[in-house]
Amino acid sequence: MKCRKCSQKAVINMRQHKLALCTEHFPEWIVEQTQRFIQKYRMFTHQERVLVAVSGGKDSLSLWDILWQLGYNADGVYIALGIDGGFGYSRKSQVLCKEFATQRGLKLIVVDAPKDIGLTIPELAAITQRGKDKPCAVCGLVKRHILDRVAKEGQYDVLATGHNLDDEAAVLFGNTLSWNIGYLHRQSPVLAARHAGLVRKVKPLCRFYEREMAAYALVRGIEYIYEECPHAEGSTTIYYKTLLNQLETDRPGAKLSFYLAFLQAKEKGLFAHTEEEGFGAGGETLYTCPSCGGPTTVEGLCAYCRMVEKVK
Ligand code: AMP
Ligand code: FES
Ligand code: ZN
Ligand code: ZN
Repeated sequence: MKCRKCSQKAVINMRQHKLALCTEHFPEWIVEQTQRFIQKYRMFTHQERVLVAVSGGKDSLSLWDILWQLGYNADGVYIALGIDGGFGYSRKSQVLCKEFATQRGLKLIVVDAPKDIGLTIPELAAITQRGKDKPCAVCGLVKRHILDRVAKEGQYDVLATGHNLDDEAAVLFGNTLSWNIGYLHRQSPVLAARHAGLVRKVKPLCRFYEREMAAYALVRGIEYIYEECPHAEGSTTIYYKTLLNQLETDRPGAKLSFYLAFLQAKEKGLFAHTEEEGFGAGGETLYTCPSCGGPTTVEGLCAYCRMVEKVK
């Protein structure tokens, strides 16, 4: 297979785009496309300060690399969660994020969640039982809270995450199976800040397949953690991803069109989200947590502060 642009040997063939590209033109294409998505969805401008949430994985580090190449003013934030899994998952991820930032002279903020809370994520899950045997729900709550807080405190304009198309399609699949209206309202490449304790949230990689991001990281020589979080095994999201991959094998482009058709339906008003200050994406009232100043859908402490209270 030859590169469409220069007829050198292609490193990737993207069947859904009927496009094969070489080691030189593929990363170029990814960077150009990202810039196109940033503008199309009005994510942020070169004048704004971006905070990239990096996990040490291929997606978020590639995102940071792309924004750096595009000349955006983007710092990174890594949350140490204290997850070991027998191979030092959190420790390893942190080292990779640090090395990435140092190599490029970028600023990385590191937040030590166990130090903040007094417990590691698995310990926290065991105590609060929110996540039953899996700590993922508690972990998600902690990550969201810390990312919102760091973005707000650092006066960033926008928080960017590395969610790719496979992530978004799997979430969408789950949300449609249960017709979860609230989540369908909220799922979007860009979510406006609807509360004083929040900043805008964006997902610039939401239209790239996971395999495209893996290829990008490889071609760019980005060192990232290959292992998934040890607690992700057997998760519903992974199950949905497997199902969607089967569909994709038979019908190339199925994942992309599933997600894009949803975004188009949203533009026409289906599950459109409100951008009104003080209201959630689905129009629900947002109160202010008296402890952390963050948003909450019920009056009183937010879910994070309630959990921390309980631990104390
Ligand atoms: P995940 O929920 O693990 O698929 O991660 C989705 C996105 O959340 C990643 O692409 C990152 O942008 C962000 N993220 C996940 N884990 C962390 C972490 N430990 N610190 C900072 N950001 C993270
Ligand atoms: Fe949080 Fe796996 S990353 S439980
Ligand atoms: Zn080429
Ligand atoms: Zn709170």
